[in-house]
Amino acid sequence: MFGAIDHIGVAVEDLDAAIALYEGTYQMELVHREVVEEQGVEAVLLDVGESHVELLAPLGADTPVGKFLERKGPGLHHVAYRVDDVAGELVRLKAEGFRLIDETPRIGIRGSSVGFLHPASTGFVLTELVTPAEGH
Ligand code: CO
Repeated sequence: MFGAIDHIGVAVEDLDAAIALYEGTYQMELVHREVVEEQGVEAVLLDVGESHVELLAPLGADTPVGKFLERKGPGLHHVAYRVDDVAGELVRLKAEGFRLIDETPRIGIRGSSVGFLHPASTGFVLTELVTPAEGH
């Protein structure tokens, strides 16, 4: 079961300019910054209520977010729903015929467990399932 919207992911070309908007103007607290090599991004998390905004800047043009920017330009990239058991949800959705990007969970930002669903099965909304790490 999807518990809450954990975060929205926003693809940006200039991470510091985006931080100035979200942290400066919107006054969200920046709580984490990390290079996630496996996903080819430098990312930050900002708190907004119980949820987060995740700003994603590509490490290179030949990364998923780099290609997204090339195709669509900056903007909303994905929505992430909080679940208790990413692995179990991936199994359940696959059994329902969903196309998955991740067949099994992998480690996401801030030690979370994540799995991405394929947009072809989600009405073309790139969808992430996430279980935050202990304490987050
Ligand atoms: Co995300």
